[in-house]
Amino acid sequence: MRIAMIGTGYVGLTTGVCYSEMGHSVICADIDEEKIRQLQQNHCPIYEPGLKELIIKNSSKGNLSFTTDIEAAVNFSDIIMIAVGTPSLPDGSVDMSFIDEVAHKIGQSIKDYKVIVNKSTVPVGSADRVRKIVQSYIKTPFDVASVPEFLREGSAVKDVLNGERIVIGIDSEKAKDILIKVHEPFQIPIQVTDIRSAELIKYAANSFLAMKISFINEIANLAEKVGADVLEVAKGIGSDSRIGERFLNAGIGFGGACFPKDTLGIINIAEQVGHDFKIMKEVINVNRKQYMRIIEHLNAVYPNLYGKTVSILGLSFKPNTNDLREAPSIKIINDLVKNTNGNIRIRVYDPISMDEARGVLPEIVKYCYSVEEAIVDSDAAIIVTEWKEIVEQDWKNLSRIMKTAVIIDGRNCLEGMDDDSITYLGIGRKNYKLK
Ligand code: UGA
Repeated sequence: MRIAMIGTGYVGLTTGVCYSEMGHSVICADIDEEKIRQLQQNHCPIYEPGLKELIIKNSSKGNLSFTTDIEAAVNFSDIIMIAVGTPSLPDGSVDMSFIDEVAHKIGQSIKDYKVIVNKSTVPVGSADRVRKIVQSYIKTPFDVASVPEFLREGSAVKDVLNGERIVIGIDSEKAKDILIKVHEPFQIPIQVTDIRSAELIKYAANSFLAMKISFINEIANLAEKVGADVLEVAKGIGSDSRIGERFLNAGIGFGGACFPKDTLGIINIAEQVGHDFKIMKEVINVNRKQYMRIIEHLNAVYPNLYGKTVSILGLSFKPNTNDLREAPSIKIINDLVKNTNGNIRIRVYDPISMDEARGVLPEIVKYCYSVEEAIVDSDAAIIVTEWKEIVEQDWKNLSRIMKTAVIIDGRNCLEGMDDDSITYLGIGRKNYKLK
């Protein structure tokens, strides 16, 4: 099958490349000329394990190409997938301007039957919106479907190729057959449903996962107060298969391009139809405050942070990505600077996202090129992102190079930190020590 993927962001690029890996002929289109030029030269614009290799492999096989000519991409294909950004507007509603723009372009370009697929995370009713725009240009029949994406940054290729389900929201038999044929090579269970349910599934899935995280974070906050350990509690509840053990890692809250946007998005979708989605409002409230646990722990050790040197380890919102969107590291660093009127030394290290950080973090920050360089002679090390390189250090020995061995573990990712010479504070942990 021939597929045009419009939009080469995280979702568009990864899924486009994976469709080509499944043997389809894929053309990825984007208005960003520089990005397309890079992709044509086999440069991958995002850090995502395994993606670059697949780009090189499928481009050289002739299954995959890149263009800025959206009209040509539309005409080349049987299926047009829309994977452009849907950011939040200040009122929490979803900015549909990029989707609308693409729908207009498709309407102006198509000449014969196509299946148009929404892959972006879009509010319920978006397929109808796209249909209406395209219809305003042509009389040729076409179908619109919703095939939401469930990939995670940092494991995007693996998630697409080994997903747990593919959801196809469709209202036409012809398009259904085409979309099943496209997705069969993945050998992943397919759920065919109506379009609006497919659109809601995406928001409901992300909202539920975000709710799990805020729930366990609240349990962590409670555990500290009642003298329990959140790791034990998570294990105890997670082994009940009705609850499930995944996404119960307490820490400093969720970030990234999806959960913060989609939790706001579902509240807004509900508001449009007069439904007050109170649970999700609380999920967001808990998350907005959770990063402050780091500052509270730090203040418990150092009531006065003036003149202290604090090392921030990990900047990206999660490991294996250079994405800093809604990353807790930014809020933590900004608060530390604000609370001390800039009278603090902050050193940062991240294995991948240092370049991205330069435009985002306050000027006072010193960029370091290794964990050692960041923590030497510092008063406290804060683990913000659980990068393997950070977790696998020999912390008992390494912490000796610090001025004072104070480690605040925002991801509860270090084990066996029971050394008397180290002050180790996790989130929601019983055995942490204050010396
Ligand atoms: C999320 C979903 O997991 C994907 O299924 C979805 O397709 C994607 O959003 C999307 O809508 O595009 P992603 O944001 O890439 O994926 O990353 P996650 O691994 O879900 O992590 C999100 C945030 O939650 C991170 O900040 C992570 O540190 C945090 N998290 C995750 C926790 O604090 N605790 C956990 O137990 C799990």
